[in-house]
Amino acid sequence: MQTTEAGFEKLGAEYLQDPHAVHERLREVGPVSELVLPRGLKVWVVTRHEEARIALSDPRFSKNFAAAGDLFGKHLQPGVARREFDQSFASHMLNMDPPDHTRMRKLVNKAFTARRMEALRPRIQEITDRLLDEMEGRSEVDLLDALAFPLPITVICELLDVPLDQRDDFRIWSGTLLTDSTQEEINEAAASMYAFLAGLIQSKRENPGDDIFSALVHASEDDDRLNEAELISMAFLLLVAGHETTVNLIGNGVLGLLRNPDQLALLLADRSLLGNAVEEFLRIDGPINMATFRYTAEEAELGGVTIPAEEFVLVSLLSANRDPEKFPEPAKMDITRATGGHVAFGHGIHFCLGAPLARLEGAVAIGSLLDRFDLDLAGEPSQALKWKDSTLLHGLERFPISLSPR
Ligand code: HEM
Repeated sequence: MQTTEAGFEKLGAEYLQDPHAVHERLREVGPVSELVLPRGLKVWVVTRHEEARIALSDPRFSKNFAAAGDLFGKHLQPGVARREFDQSFASHMLNMDPPDHTRMRKLVNKAFTARRMEALRPRIQEITDRLLDEMEGRSEVDLLDALAFPLPITVICELLDVPLDQRDDFRIWSGTLLTDSTQEEINEAAASMYAFLAGLIQSKRENPGDDIFSALVHASEDDDRLNEAELISMAFLLLVAGHETTVNLIGNGVLGLLRNPDQLALLLADRSLLGNAVEEFLRIDGPINMATFRYTAEEAELGGVTIPAEEFVLVSLLSANRDPEKFPEPAKMDITRATGGHVAFGHGIHFCLGAPLARLEGAVAIGSLLDRFDLDLAGEPSQALKWKDSTLLHGLERFPISLSPR
């Protein structure tokens, strides 16, 4: 940990490998800390649970970046190269306040209800079983490659009726756009992603089906409820949000069980605990560390801290979910604990659209994996597991496990 010339703490690359230790210290200092992120951006980070819920749902913390000035220009630290992000995918509801957010969310809300998702259970089970069949006979696999990545991407592609043949390319592009990458890598990935999404929308225009994308194309053409940039951005949001996160729920959840054999034994002995166990995985090591950017349109007070106007505000969901004021002994995994109120899916109007789907996929994947195999961490114990270089995503880069049939 270093201090910048202006006096705020700079989070180093080591923060990303063990964010919990830093959060614990920050929470003790106060509910909100002024920090510089590893990639050189100055932000205010909310680390306590009560203030996190406020910042996630209070309109003083805006997401309408179209109305903001050049906040990146203002808050990048001196000497840090600026990376331009392609704006072609930015016009989606996670970057909007009401009334635009309300208009966009209404178009997709009905398609993702818990009831609709529950109807997908047999198909999710089928895809999971096929992936587990492919693991049969192998003594070691990377769990992310074998199950945690292909399951959610297959489900979201089927749900949106998107061809699966480019799913590995898609994984690379979205990974590049969401983690700390170079400008050149970002440009290349964004161009490929744009071509892919534009092609997809064109094909829905020519051959509409009864899938969600076709309905969105219809909304953009006939009712003028969605413009072209919003259409591309919505496609991007649904596809990326639909798989970059659930992979970490499955990965982090299984890792948590392997590191806590008593909890694994408990779950194996009583499968009715599975639903609550998934909530505990989301709480203790959720797929997202810091939720997406917000900013203060005007000066705002939060938990006794005054944040000036035009500052970035980030909420660390990971930290809020380990606030001892809300969850006693927060670092202890307990699959029987009361998990209500965790913020792994956010809070307020941007609460995750895909939460019912993610919960279902997490439960089916982890439950079925445990039914079929005995698992262990693979590789040298000295080879520490590496976490992704991202303040957004909290997930492993690779997850080698050894397995034997149960
Ligand atoms: C929003 C987490 C899976 C679609 C969010 C937010 C969080 C989140 C924290 C709010 C971000 C903020 O307020 O800054 C997660 C986690 C997942 C998951 C932890 C998996 C375990 C999914 C899936 C979909 C999805 C499977 C598929 C459709 C969305 C969308 C939004 C969103 C569209 C934006 C909602 C809005 O702005 O109104 N998610 N998500 N998510 N999520 Fe998820």
